[in-house]
Amino acid sequence: MSSDFPALRDEILRLKKERNAVILAHNYQRDEVQDIADHVGDSLELSRTAAKIDCEVIVFCGVHFMAESASILSPDKTVLLPETEAGCPMADMISVDAPRPVRTSFPGFANPPAYVYPPEFTLKAIKRQYPGVPVVAYVNTTAEVKAESDICCTSANVVKVIESLPGDTVICIPDKNLSLWAARNSTKKVIAWDGYCNIHERATPEDVVRAKEEHPGALVMAHPECRLDVLESADHVTSTSGMLRFAGSSAAKEFIVGTEIGLMHRLRKENPEKTFYPLRRDMVCPNMKKTTLRSVASALRENRYVIKVPESVRLPAKQALDRMLAVS
Ligand code: 13P
Ligand code: SF4
Repeated sequence: MSSDFPALRDEILRLKKERNAVILAHNYQRDEVQDIADHVGDSLELSRTAAKIDCEVIVFCGVHFMAESASILSPDKTVLLPETEAGCPMADMISVDAPRPVRTSFPGFANPPAYVYPPEFTLKAIKRQYPGVPVVAYVNTTAEVKAESDICCTSANVVKVIESLPGDTVICIPDKNLSLWAARNSTKKVIAWDGYCNIHERATPEDVVRAKEEHPGALVMAHPECRLDVLESADHVTSTSGMLRFAGSSAAKEFIVGTEIGLMHRLRKENPEKTFYPLRRDMVCPNMKKTTLRSVASALRENRYVIKVPESVRLPAKQALDRMLAVS
């Protein structure tokens, strides 16, 4: 633990009171950031909290699309993202009508996966190809993409959202792994986009075999952003908070955790009598780790970085988020 932590924590608690602020943190945040937060959760839980919370300022410790969703749902509050560069590469993999920028490098990773979606493809192009087919946008998308979609989903509710829609076909963007998993578990035909999370995509079925050999009594939990062949070999597929619920209620004592390693903190804290092993130690999201106690204190002190969405985008994006919140 850094020797700065106690002083920074005191400053954050003081500023929080002065500014009537609430700190929301995603389950992948650094341990010390999770520990100072008022609410820690998965994307769905944090969206729900942002929609109903009573405060003047929300400090969102997560990545850009999460703070944007909070601002869309709570436009009268000041929403701060402590690290302006904390983005989600998957959210950048689709755009409404400009060809998406092709990412050639992923910070922190020497060997990113080789998929590159044809840059001429855009959400508008795919909608033209499938007129009238509803578009389900994973919350890991920009506000503009949400605004152009019919409904949002998270990893916790994707099947329920898809099943709630009329017709037998849906377009699901941008995560191909989540879409394939949803297709496997619903009655609908799913048209998937070719996006992916470069952190979850790293896990392979061989990793699952090796981890099971090393820990024969452990159950494997995997996030639906993992490859379908990894999901098929897991014991339980669910969102980050779904893993917390599963591990808490299961009779098993050992678990292999197939998601970003930030979740290990809560898993261990909430289940001290159980043992958790990461599926891969390098499942670390550099964007989620950008936020520190220092940047949370600066955010509150200097009112930065304010996330605001223009009304012309916010209103249709809110409709897509509200529809999701109504079905789940
Ligand atoms: P959850 O909604 O399961 O927390 O996942 C969000 C995310 O970004 C996973 O990489
Ligand atoms: Fe995006 Fe993957 Fe990081 Fe989640 S873990 S924020 S999907 S890059």
